[in-house]
Amino acid sequence: MKKALKNDLLLRVLRQEQAERIPVWLMRQAGRYLPEYQVLRARYSFFERCETPELVAEITAQPVEIIGVDAAILFSDILVVPKAMGADLELVENKGPIFKAPLRSLSAVRALKKIDASVDLSFVMEGIAATLERLAKRVPLIGFAGAPWTIFCYMVQGSGSKTFDIAKTFAYTQTEATELLLQKITDATIDYLKAQVRAGVEVLQLFDTWASVLSAADFAIYSLPYIRKIIEAVRSLCPTIIFAKGAWHALADLERLAPGAIGLDWCCPPEYACAAVPKSVLQGNLDPSILTADKATIRTQTRRMLAGFSHRPYIANLGHGLLPHTPVANVRYFVETVQNFKL
Ligand code: CP3
Repeated sequence: MKKALKNDLLLRVLRQEQAERIPVWLMRQAGRYLPEYQVLRARYSFFERCETPELVAEITAQPVEIIGVDAAILFSDILVVPKAMGADLELVENKGPIFKAPLRSLSAVRALKKIDASVDLSFVMEGIAATLERLAKRVPLIGFAGAPWTIFCYMVQGSGSKTFDIAKTFAYTQTEATELLLQKITDATIDYLKAQVRAGVEVLQLFDTWASVLSAADFAIYSLPYIRKIIEAVRSLCPTIIFAKGAWHALADLERLAPGAIGLDWCCPPEYACAAVPKSVLQGNLDPSILTADKATIRTQTRRMLAGFSHRPYIANLGHGLLPHTPVANVRYFVETVQNFKL
């Protein structure tokens, strides 16, 4: 029999069961704001850190041990999927991801590899195994992937961007290649997420960061149908969380997919989200920059957020990833403020 988790608050809230307090974790909780991470960052390249199971376990466990969060999220990246599909990419200091040959034609899309995640991304599965051992049932482990639209953005644009203009022009003008690419990413992602669950992750989060560059009408074409396919394929395996940044207009559509929870960015007020999503668990949504302010501001703003969501099943988090220059003490204070909040 599987041994029970010591802290299963997150799993209970995702099942909409009783919980004595609100669980809390943070997007990008494993990363640059921690001096312990910086030590490893100085010694190994980004993909070395992602591909070495002992480093994955160490970096994933750091926020559990240093910050005291109620869940661990696997240290990896959404870009391991395009890399496994054949994209040649690097993470460049101060520039972010750079793809050597961004996709710009149907033939390039056709040439992408069909992945077998258990083989092509075996280092992730080994990382999960090492992490589960390291966590020793203290908290649940969240696995993740990028949503197809967000991965498409990087593969076509070839780098980060404020507008993803090249990716959008491609989507609007090269219909056949766009549909094929989004479908190939979807197939790879389903295979990848299923492999993560087999390896032992207890929750899956889908990140659609660049939903924020799409209009409501375009989100319905280029993102939602592929998110739907993924959620339908993995929903029965473990609880899922969908985070589609900027997609306030699609909250009701996302709820219809019956995920375990819906993540919110900080531009979405609690009253709006609670009305748009009457049944699902919500997750979010403090502005990450609040954690760079003073303690009084962090406390006031965090408690305001909790007051807005605490009447329903809810997971406290930020509205996007932790900013790299956030003081560790402030991250800890945010977590304590949530954990001391009386329901
Ligand atoms: O959340 C966690 O702590 C788990 C690990 C995780 C990383 N990336 C590690 C990482 C997760 C869940 C991600 C998701 C991810 N990666 C997203 C979606 C969420 C989001 O933040 O929008 C996206 C868009 C990426 C792509 C990516 N990876 C970019 C654009 C960059 C460079 C800029 C940046 O944000 O740091 C990365 C690198 C990356 N991924 C780092 C970490 C800790 C920084 C690496 C370093 O410099 O040490």
